[in-house]
Amino acid sequence: MRILVLGGGGREHAIVHALLKSPRTPEVLVAPGNGGTAAIATNVTGLRIDDPRAVADYAAENNIDLVVIGPEGPLVAGVADALHARKIKVFGPSGLAARLEGSKAFAKGVMRRNGIPTGESRCYTARELGQALDALEHSAYPVVVKADGLAAGKGVTVAKDRAEAEAAVRQSFDGAFGEAGETVLIEEFLTGPECSLLAFVDGEHISVMPPAQDHKRAFDGDTGPNTGGMGVYSPVPGVDEETLAEMKRLLAQTVSGLHRENLRFRGILYGGFILTEDGPKVLEYNARFGDPETQVLLPRLQTDLIDVMLAVAEGRLESQNVKWSEDASVGVVLAAGGYPGDYAKGDVITGIADAEALPGVTVFHAGTELRADGTLVTNGGRVLCVTAVAPTLAAARDRAYEAAAKISFNGMFFRKDIAVRALGAQS
Ligand code: GLY
Repeated sequence: MRILVLGGGGREHAIVHALLKSPRTPEVLVAPGNGGTAAIATNVTGLRIDDPRAVADYAAENNIDLVVIGPEGPLVAGVADALHARKIKVFGPSGLAARLEGSKAFAKGVMRRNGIPTGESRCYTARELGQALDALEHSAYPVVVKADGLAAGKGVTVAKDRAEAEAAVRQSFDGAFGEAGETVLIEEFLTGPECSLLAFVDGEHISVMPPAQDHKRAFDGDTGPNTGGMGVYSPVPGVDEETLAEMKRLLAQTVSGLHRENLRFRGILYGGFILTEDGPKVLEYNARFGDPETQVLLPRLQTDLIDVMLAVAEGRLESQNVKWSEDASVGVVLAAGGYPGDYAKGDVITGIADAEALPGVTVFHAGTELRADGTLVTNGGRVLCVTAVAPTLAAARDRAYEAAAKISFNGMFFRKDIAVRALGAQS
């Protein structure tokens, strides 16, 4: 079986790693991949993964049996549609369905039409600047200003006062996020702990994963700029069965709504929830696996990932019994100095083999490159995610940090408090 995975981050390394555990012994190609996938699969260079036709042509010419789409860009661009039209199996929703992530205004519409609790919000285009400013005049603070489209995690501002909110609205309309910021949402600020729940979705049925929680800020104590995610843990202590059941119900309700609107959603639905005093509310949806959530979830998957992905792609998830280990897992992201701003590339990385010699540890690569001479060097902001699986969250956390301490590269930094608050909630 030949599988093509699109993407080159830690998420894709974790997906490839899980696919290769299958007794089907697949041949896995990854475009573009990274230093970690180069060591276990075949990296494909030069494929424009956001170009639906280029991907479909490549998949047809190379007898690919299944394409797994990792990042949001190719999903929103309609890569799944091009593959579907050529009868090539694909794990990932259609471009129209992926607007659940690609347009926050669209996502709010889906929530409204399907009775999904979320923050109150209004959308404004650049032509409606006056109305947007008027809304800020009468808003409670803090308030959230969001660029409508994909802005690489940079399009959300929590503004503590009117001046900050106005600056965020103007910045978006002035082109800071390109087309993605031509519409903004002004949204009620909700408070409560956050929790992510991801589900496999085959268009009609869902199968949820254990809950996970990432740490978005760069520095300890949830300070510093927002990042793609500096660490993650799963499960999430403090989320009781009733809350979990409600989150699952809300994801199922979302999928039913998409199905009724004839939107083809076969892939991962990622619900970003906030657990308010009034119950869970949806902060955002993603139409893909999370990064770094995938790095702590897939190591706990006990069912063959290929079987699950084929069941999703073929619309027969109901027949699959997807099993997860009872273990806990913690992932600590090792980043390049300066990230999420400017950072150096090409620094030699050492210590990964020593880290992976520890029980339960896997080091997933994100921004790495394996050079022809076998040297592994940094090639991105988030460089590695050190993941440990252990019977308890405390043991997984200790093991992940023990492993991280064995790795080094010039300028390396990481948060020291991943899962600390969760352990507090547990005790
Ligand atoms: N960890 C957040 C995301 O994948 O969007």
